[in-house]
Amino acid sequence: MPESTSLTFSLLPDSIRQSSAIGAEVQLPPGMSKLDLDRLTEKDKETLRKALFENQVIVIRGQKGIDATVLPQFAKVFDPSASDVHSAGEKAVSDPKNILSAYKAGRIPKAPQVGIIGSGTFHDYEGLKELEVIHLDHTLFHEKPLAQEEIDQGYTRPYRWHMDTPFYERLPGEVTILHSIRIPNLPDQMIKFPDGKEKSIGAGATAFFSGARAFALLTPEEQEFALNTTVTYAPQAYEYIRQCKASEDGLTIPTLGSEVPVEKLSEWSWDKVAEHPMVWRNPLNPDRPFLQVHGCCVFKLSTRNPATGEVTVIDDVEKVRNVVYNMQKKIYAAENIYAHRWEEGDLVIFHNRGVMHSITGQLSQHKHDEDKKRMLWQCTMTSVTPPKPFRTYEGVNDTGYVRA
Ligand SMILES: [Fe+2]
Repeated sequence: MPESTSLTFSLLPDSIRQSSAIGAEVQLPPGMSKLDLDRLTEKDKETLRKALFENQVIVIRGQKGIDATVLPQFAKVFDPSASDVHSAGEKAVSDPKNILSAYKAGRIPKAPQVGIIGSGTFHDYEGLKELEVIHLDHTLFHEKPLAQEEIDQGYTRPYRWHMDTPFYERLPGEVTILHSIRIPNLPDQMIKFPDGKEKSIGAGATAFFSGARAFALLTPEEQEFALNTTVTYAPQAYEYIRQCKASEDGLTIPTLGSEVPVEKLSEWSWDKVAEHPMVWRNPLNPDRPFLQVHGCCVFKLSTRNPATGEVTVIDDVEKVRNVVYNMQKKIYAAENIYAHRWEEGDLVIFHNRGVMHSITGQLSQHKHDEDKKRMLWQCTMTSVTPPKPFRTYEGVNDTGYVRA
């Protein structure tokens, strides 16, 4: 097949990528305006994987009208071990203890792996008579919320950095696919950073930072610590932190005390509690270490001395959060964050095991309902294969769960 019929990709401009090491745009093969998996060659799929695993977030523009059932199939191009189960479980959530029910997230009936998130009420949509989706309000999330004056000036913040996974019972998918159906008709908003810089982003932008970049910013001592450390997440992690508020940067929980006591959580057992290496290996970019840790859901750190094999445990949750935060906060600068500026029809694939991402955007304050309406499809499927540790040694726990 001649070269000119192949799918290609190009990096987003330096002015957008800055130091994030994130972002590429995919051009479908000539003559293919909508993604058609049956017409992609093996070489096209290889190019897609290369684009994603080297750049962590890729976008295909102009995909308005794509069928929801294509998304789960497309995810398997990047993650052959993806199950057909949404990371949040088989069905849409109505459990008030679950984070996703705060969004009132719906599911597309013909593609239950695809969730609907956004803001506003929609009628007769994809077989759903009435669908109400709610954009999270920052005031629910931050210990020190933005002042009304700052909101009026157009400021927003990342709400909470995360990977798409419950850290309980199900493993994180390799990729998440987002598709923009409708974007808010609002002016740009701004994020203020601790160094005083400001970043102008699209209203409702999805923000990302690379775990590889986060690792590269660590001191050599911190890198060594991270490579030798296993992270145990809290049992029923999101329920555990349900009433906790995040720091202004959305990376950690600064104050201990609002956690649901473990004995009051929904039924749980240790063998379903997530346990992952702090540094993950990228399947197609195996020489680059990725610091992948959810700073709000952490519970315990076990660090192995490679010389002696001795393991040191930190299980004071406040201390665990501090250790992780001091490492991860270095990434929080305008030039390290890629904030995807949504256009309607965008298909965005992100490497869920290679980035942390966050919702941004103050939408609810705006007066006109039609202007703040937004809708995204989100396809995230739990994977069968656990994340691989970057550093392996005899006895390393690479099962994804606490070992009984
Ligand atoms: Fe997410």
